[in-house]
Amino acid sequence: MIAIDGPAASGKSSTARAVAERLGFAHLDSGALYRGVTLVAIRHAVPGPLDPARVLREAETRGLQLQFDGRSYAVYLGGASADEAIRSPEVTARVSAVSAVPEIREWVTERLRRLARAGQSLVVDGRDIGTVVFPEAVLKIFLTASPRTRAGRRITQRGQAVDQALLDREAVDLAARDQADSARAVAPLRQAPDAIPLDGTDLSFEDQVARISALARERLGLD
Ligand code: CDP
Repeated sequence: MIAIDGPAASGKSSTARAVAERLGFAHLDSGALYRGVTLVAIRHAVPGPLDPARVLREAETRGLQLQFDGRSYAVYLGGASADEAIRSPEVTARVSAVSAVPEIREWVTERLRRLARAGQSLVVDGRDIGTVVFPEAVLKIFLTASPRTRAGRRITQRGQAVDQALLDREAVDLAARDQADSARAVAPLRQAPDAIPLDGTDLSFEDQVARISALARERLGLD
């Protein structure tokens, strides 16, 4: 088990996926499941204040789940891939509030642990993986990058051209989400005491993946 935590758009998921591939592990993106629950809340819950029990009941009955595609676990809802829908601006705007709710965190955490119990070796990325979900992880990385770098990457990832105004706006959105994720009472975003910090601002993607993979191989005694 390898845990990669860090702030929004720090490159956790793409890095975790590439590290998993190098090691022959499966990749599990915990944020995708929080996004899936948020999608259910938007599509299927009654209007008004969030009712976590209702949202989770809808999630169960509508078959919100993670399915393995041979490399990563992807989010499915009602038998169809929800991969695109969970990245919508509406979901992104609400996901921090939904994932601050203790009952929702318990439900997601239990799902993640159940997958891990199935026995596959995993690289898991998120906010509280090394601190709460899998504190026993053999390697914990806390991945960061400067706000401008993260904003630029997120814009490029969406296929948009990077300009100053967009960069400023995206950096504000990311900072707001980081603030919400760090300030919540339950399982806030923070570096585990035994995590290795890695600032990817000036690292190429390849270097970042190579460094984490090398650390993992060392810890796992694979060399
Ligand atoms: O990919 P990005 O950095 O935009 O975020 P994500 O990993 O998809 O996570 C979306 C949101 O889910 C975060 O902003 C957190 O509010 C929440 N999350 C969490 O609370 N705990 C996790 N382990 C993973 C995500």
